[in-house]
Amino acid sequence: MRNLLIALLMWSGPALASDASSTDDLINLVKQDCGSCHGLTLKGGLGPDIRPQSLSHYDVETLSTVVLDGIPDTAMPPWRPLLSEADAQKIAEYLLQGDLK
Ligand code: HEC
Repeated sequence: MRNLLIALLMWSGPALASDASSTDDLINLVKQDCGSCHGLTLKGGLGPDIRPQSLSHYDVETLSTVVLDGIPDTAMPPWRPLLSEADAQKIAEYLLQGDLK
């Protein structure tokens, strides 16, 4: 519970608005914010399965654009207001590899 609180504080804080979010911040964001729709283990919920095997048709560039701009006319929101392009690229790499490098 305490960790969740800290993560939420970090999430609403200025850390994510800057260019260089820490890897931990980004992993937390993916698990909690993306996970709220795509499922905690990202295997699908309201949104589809976004584990690596389901995203193999994406390259990092396309995937980070999907994260930044969302998918129009669907529940998939644009994250550009919260994430820099560098952050989105890290998230895309994380999603494709299942591990943030
Ligand atoms: C409010 C719910 C919601 C949240 C939060 C959300 N998504 Fe989505 N996402 C969706 C929905 C719904 C779709 C399917 C859109 C469609 O019908 O094509 C989707 C689609 C996607 C796709 C495309 C999947 C494919 O197979 O083409 C990716 C990638 C994705 N989301 C990544 C993310 C990431 C990364 C985050 C967190 C930064 C995130 N989503 C947060 C609802 C959400």
